[in-house]
Order: sequence, then C-alpha cells, then structure tokens
Amino acid sequence: MFGGRSSEHAISCVSAGSVLEVIDRDRYDVLPIGITGEGRWVLAGDEPARLAIHGRELPTVDPTGTPLVLPGDPTAKGLVVLEAGDAAADLGSIDVVFPLLHGPYGEDGTLQGLLELAGVPYVGSGVFASAAAMDKHHMKQLLEAAGLVVPPYVVIRRGRAVPTEVRNLGLPVFVKPSRGGSSIGISKVSRWDDLDDALAEAHRHDPKALVESAVAGRELECGVLAAPSGPEASLPAEVRVTGGQDFYDFEAKYLSDATEFDIPPHLPEETIARVRSAALRAFEALDCEGLARVDFFVTDAGEVLVNEVNTMPGFTPASMFPRMWAATGVPYRELVSRLLDDALRRGTGLR
Ligand SMILES: Nc1ncnc2c1ncn2[C@@H]1O[C@H](COP(=O)(O)OP(=O)(O)O)[C@@H](O)[C@H]1O
Ligand SMILES: [Mg+2]
Repeated sequence: MFGGRSSEHAISCVSAGSVLEVIDRDRYDVLPIGITGEGRWVLAGDEPARLAIHGRELPTVDPTGTPLVLPGDPTAKGLVVLEAGDAAADLGSIDVVFPLLHGPYGEDGTLQGLLELAGVPYVGSGVFASAAAMDKHHMKQLLEAAGLVVPPYVVIRRGRAVPTEVRNLGLPVFVKPSRGGSSIGISKVSRWDDLDDALAEAHRHDPKALVESAVAGRELECGVLAAPSGPEASLPAEVRVTGGQDFYDFEAKYLSDATEFDIPPHLPEETIARVRSAALRAFEALDCEGLARVDFFVTDAGEVLVNEVNTMPGFTPASMFPRMWAATGVPYRELVSRLLDDALRRGTGLR
C-alpha cells in the first residue's frame, strides 16, 4: 500500500516501486494498492519503473485506477472493488499488508487502526507506536521518560502567542511541524526576527509546531528490526550534508548527489555501541514493532541525543534503513521477507 494523503506521497511511491521490484514472487502474490493524494484507494499497476524519480519529476498514484475499499470488518478480510472494470470483483483475502506510507494517514496509526479493525496483519508498528512516533512532541516525552536525551524544545500551537521562554533555547533554533517528515516545513533560524516566518511555514503543515535548540554535532541514524528473540540494531550511518545545504533538508535527502553516508561512521567503537543501544531503548520506549529508524545527534563531547524515531522510514534500496541493514548483513530482498514474516507472526489485536 503506498502513496497517501501526506506531503511524502511521492517518496512513498518510490519506496513501493523498489519493493515491487525485489519482492520474492515465488512466496508472495502482490496486489499494489495506491492511495491518491485525496485519499482514494485504487488498484495500481505493478510497474516499478513508473514509481521511480525521473530527473526532478516525482511519482504519484494514478487516480484513474479501479477504486477499492477495505471494510473495517474482520469477517470480510478483503478488499472490495467499487466498480467492476478490468479488475476481478473478488480480489481474494489479504494475508498481510505492507503499508509503505510515510507521514499522516499512513505512518501515524490511522491506517494501522483500520487494519486492526479489519483484522489484517501489517508490517511495522501498531496504532500507539505509530501515533506516538509521528508526533515529535509526544515522541520526545516518551523518550525522555525512558532516560534518553533529546534537544530542548518548546511546543507552539497556531494562533497562540509565542512564549518568551523560546529565547532561552538560544540561537540557532530549528522550527518544525510536530507531525511532519522529509524535512518539509522545517527552517533553521539564526535571528529571532526570522522566527515568525519560520513558525508560519511550520504551521502551514501542522497547527502544532516545535522550536528546538540546534545541536552542534554529527547526525547519525540506526535501523532497528524486530526478530523473534527481540529487536536488533543495525550498524549506524553518519549523514554528511556536503552539497551546500544548511542541514539535511528535502533537497539533501532526495535530490542531491552530494550527500554522503558513512556506514559505519568514523567514530569510536564505544560511541557506536551507545548509539545502537539507545536505538533499541527508543524502539522499546515507544512500543515499536517490525522496524524503525532512530535518528541521533552526537556532539563533539560524545553525547548522544535522539532526534526522532521513524516507524516507516524511507524504504528504497538507496534509503538509509535498507543500506544500514545491507551493511549489517541483511540484503534488501531479505529485509522485505523478514518484515512480512514478522507481521504474519504477530497478527492483529493485543500482543
Ligand atoms: N535540533 C536540531 N539540531 C540540529 N539539526 C536539526 C535539529 N532538528 C532538525 N535538524 C535538521 O533537520 C533535519 C530534519 O529534521 P527532523 O526533525 O529529522 O524532521 P523530519 O521528520 O522532517 O526528518 C534533520 O535531519 C537535521 O539535519
Ligand atoms: Mg528526520
């Protein structure tokens, strides 16, 4: 399942295209389901190439596909075609869903809730962890409660006065939508005069924004993958933005060739071990399932701060999560099978 209503629609299509390309067709009959930007569900073509980025052109779900719905009815266990076109009216029962959706209405617990109601197992975190990780405000509270360190921050809701304590954060600050992703709506502010514009931009995406102290340090990511004996942490990666962008913004993430990744990072073994163990603690603090990518800042003094937890990280072979696992010994194709197996083992309901 891919596409969706969030600003990360295109990235989700790219992830889905990559999975379609490698998934083991001897084990799985795949039904690609696209969700349009408006939220309509359609039967999508099984065409990996159409879902790739071509130059600077981003893919989208074609809204002319056969419309579908998934009833939240566990006795139905399947998709219903709304108008019989080229697709067979009975698509059969669905064993497991791979929700390759990023952002609100996909990665935030809403889709997971529907799949729980329908009794269809799915890859990744359940309702609570998905919702908690999507909202950076609540994510930070849970991480802090588990003893992890996060950058200082203030929550600012649209239409409310900006509290004076924001200034205590010191400059520069990062201003971000609480429930966003792909760096969309994020600004780095180096003068207080620019704060209002940055808040307006963040509030265009989410009525709840965060202002956060900028951490001077290196940026690391670590993949966590569920296994029958408990979650495992991958070798971390360091992200180095070398294309002239001010931080790891949308351009540096998806469009620039200049961003560099070191797997593992050039850091002492001991620091890498602390990052891996913090990634596992963050995964458990939020009750994550299946997979997550935990992102960090590491200061020159070696302090490890958690930036965020992504419950459905970018999932193309060029994305960090698959690359970190490939470097740790789990190739992309096996990753897909392991995640589907994990989802099938777990099922739905309280667990
Ligand atoms: N407190 C911070 N200190 C330093 N850099 C930050 C901070 N917050 C965000 N950034 C930069 O902005 C990028 C995107 O921010 P992030 O909170 O990860 O949002 P998203 O969910 O959109 O990825 C980070 O990868 C990092 O480069
Ligand atoms: Mg991020």
